[in-house]
Amino acid sequence: MFYPFEMERYLETLLGERDPLLREMEEQALKETIPVVTPMVGNFLNLLVHTCKAQTILEIGTAIGYSTIWLARAAEETGGQVTTIDMNKDRLARARVYLERAGLGDQVTALEGDARKILKNLDTMFDFVFIDAAKGEYLEYLSLIYPLIAPGGLLVVDNVLFRGWVVPESTFAPKYDRMVGGLRRFLEDLSRNPDFSTTVLPFGDGVSVSRRIVL
Ligand SMILES: C[S@@+](CC[C@H](N)C(=O)[O-])C[C@H]1O[C@@H](n2cnc3c(N)ncnc32)[C@H](O)[C@@H]1O
Repeated sequence: MFYPFEMERYLETLLGERDPLLREMEEQALKETIPVVTPMVGNFLNLLVHTCKAQTILEIGTAIGYSTIWLARAAEETGGQVTTIDMNKDRLARARVYLERAGLGDQVTALEGDARKILKNLDTMFDFVFIDAAKGEYLEYLSLIYPLIAPGGLLVVDNVLFRGWVVPESTFAPKYDRMVGGLRRFLEDLSRNPDFSTTVLPFGDGVSVSRRIVL
């Protein structure tokens, strides 16, 4: 977090109470240090899916399904379907159980495997894509995902400012050099792509929102 923790806590109070299932998942993720989106980001994803009335939604990086539930709850109302991908078999199995418990089993197709392989075999166009997987692979996902985003569709990516270290002249341990460098190149690629209009929001861990321009 690169802005005051108190601010995030305060903004979270404005979201209102989350239901017991989301709370349980937040506690479980914290206990096992599984990185899931903040409630603020989850709520933002939900709001965006509603706003763009997305029908086809893709998530790269399911983990235990926390962000998937925020997406799928919006999809339930837009009449949409969520496809989510994770290469971690155990996490994906747990996500399926949580999704069933949330009553969203029919709303979501969970695919197990490396997104870099799965994306090559997808032929659906998506109205909404959320990327939250390996930060070092973000550039690779981009080239595979660009052609799958429908004109007018949204691409949302989490952790793009990675603890604020993506901002030039930040100080961080050398072991993060590659990841931070990769995220900088990712943001350059995304923001220079003439087919997309992009903005980066400095909340959560940094969230980029890009809209595929309708030609
Ligand atoms: C940050 S977690 C996802 C958190 C989830 N979006 C949430 O907020 O609830 C990242 C997930 O991406 C998965 N992952 C990493 N690289 C991947 C790849 N190449 N293909 C598919 N999944 C990948 C990991 O197994 C991990 O569960």
